[in-house]
Amino acid sequence: MNRILGTFAAAVLFAASAAFAAAPGKVTIPAPAAGKQGAVNFDHAGKTHAAQKCTACHADDKGGKIAGLDMKKGHETCQKCHNETAKADATKAALKACTNCHAKKG
Ligand code: HEC
Ligand code: HEC
Ligand code: HEC
Repeated sequence: MNRILGTFAAAVLFAASAAFAAAPGKVTIPAPAAGKQGAVNFDHAGKTHAAQKCTACHADDKGGKIAGLDMKKGHETCQKCHNETAKADATKAALKACTNCHAKKG
């Protein structure tokens, strides 16, 4: 009985995630080739992140590789909002810090 229920629950979970063409949760953007900054971790499930349309960053609603995600695009896509949020709310000043997004290069 439990086995059947378990299979059923797994099927429901699978169907639910498929229906949303879901964002992948945490993704890692590889460290930039140049400079001292390391890889960037991005969590699709973050409160503010999840409230965005996929097309705020991706070419379409399915996601997929963002072309030319270099400093210009990366900072336009990510840092712009972080800076604005930090400016509007002093308690969120940490969002601006390089280390909020970039890991230390190892
Ligand atoms: C604030 C920006 C942002 C938003 C909004 C966003 N994503 Fe992403 N997503 C990224 C970044 C950055 C990556 C990793 C870098 C890359 O793949 O170019 C990524 C990666 C992905 C990947 C994996 C691609 C791969 O190469 O492994 C999928 C799939 C994806 N996103 C789907 C979605 C979907 C679906 C939505 C909307 C529900 C969404 N994303 C919303 C920024 C965003
Ligand atoms: C529209 C505004 C906005 C955009 C665009 C955005 N962020 Fe954020 N981000 C936030 C806010 C606000 C927080 C603080 C947590 C919250 O309130 O959701 C945050 C939190 C974070 C954190 C801290 C850990 C976490 O997930 O809570 C990291 C790392 C981060 N963002 C990286 C990125 C990267 C990388 C991108 C671009 C791919 C990006 N953000 C795009 C607003 C944004
Ligand atoms: C909100 C997230 C975020 C913050 C804050 C942030 N960056 Fe970035 N940065 C990115 C993303 C995303 C990329 C593009 C992906 C990559 O190359 O890793 C990037 C790319 C870069 C690059 C690579 C340039 C290139 O064209 O290859 C450098 C250098 C860089 N950042 C330096 C910094 C410095 C210095 C700070 C602090 C003043 C900073 N970043 C703060 C998200 C951020």
